[in-house]
Amino acid sequence: MITFRAPGRVNLIGEHTDYNAGFVMPAAINLSVSTSITPRDDRKLQIRSADFEDEVEIDLDEAMPAARRHWSDYPVGVAVMLERAGYRLRGGRLDINSEVPMGSGLSSSAAVEVSVACALAAGANLTIDRKELALLCQKAENEFVGAHVGIMDQFVALFGEERRALMLDCRSLDYKLLPVPETVRLVVCNTMVKHELAANEYNERRAQCEQGVEHFARFLPHVQALRDVTLEDLEQYGRELPEVIHRRCRHVITENARVLAAAAALEQQDLSRFGQLMAQSHVSLRDDYEVSSRELDLMVEIAAPIEGVYGARMTGGGFGGCTVNLVDAARVENFQRTVAAGYEQVTGLKPEIYVCEASKGAEQITS
Ligand code: GLA
Repeated sequence: MITFRAPGRVNLIGEHTDYNAGFVMPAAINLSVSTSITPRDDRKLQIRSADFEDEVEIDLDEAMPAARRHWSDYPVGVAVMLERAGYRLRGGRLDINSEVPMGSGLSSSAAVEVSVACALAAGANLTIDRKELALLCQKAENEFVGAHVGIMDQFVALFGEERRALMLDCRSLDYKLLPVPETVRLVVCNTMVKHELAANEYNERRAQCEQGVEHFARFLPHVQALRDVTLEDLEQYGRELPEVIHRRCRHVITENARVLAAAAALEQQDLSRFGQLMAQSHVSLRDDYEVSSRELDLMVEIAAPIEGVYGARMTGGGFGGCTVNLVDAARVENFQRTVAAGYEQVTGLKPEIYVCEASKGAEQITS
């Protein structure tokens, strides 16, 4: 039996920028999914998950099944994409175990995909380049599962490092690992409201960004993605855009600039500046991109004024899920107590709070 673990992630800043060929800054966290493979002699895959009762079996020599809105779509999609890319897999029993809460914006799906991909590759004695693995996992989610996500989650699940945030250029896939100072913690607060209805909204935001690109490309032929549009361009050529599209574009353009500024702040260990940028990111996601929710806004409003908090914002796709907070390590306990009490008082919901460490990307844990 071979076991791989792949981490969930928290995004510090750079939201809804990955599919605009822009910049993101996630960190892998110390909650992960592990997948074990026990190889078989044939080409059958038996897939089990500790979170679900049913077991799924597919035969790699038969026509590949289609997605069916089932938990197994993620592992099956990964197997399908590996085979389609020309990697010949071997059969095996896959056992999936997740510590990453589902539907909370901590990217449990990418952690499943990446741990399964690593296990399948190892089970067949294949060595696959990590960038290619990230892209194949993204493809599984885009083309098999049908969620048009960007590359951020799969990438950081493979390339994360301990005590480092990963600043990724989603166009070139070049990245930089930036130190997260020992004096702070990444504290993730779960609103306990799942983002189940987010898929349609997500795809709609993508379409709105594409509409923006089409508009700007008419005036500026070099524009291939919103990454290529500046604030000056928005001012000069964006006036005729429908108001909503204008705001969507403004979010992406300003958010990309914030990631660059945040990377500089982290390099200089300027946590106050970093925190201000997180706050601005939240406002932009709330007002311009409209992917926040009442609960996320409340969680941020409660957290921001607490002593020892540098910054607070929603994290991930939005419409529920979690916030990320940059908190002085010595003040974490007080932070947890104050947020939990304040949030429960207003909503009646008990938030889960995870004090996370920036962690290492996917790795083998037993052999
Ligand atoms: C989801 C997607 C990512 C990214 C974020 C928003 O987590 O999986 O690719 O687009 O939303 O930043």
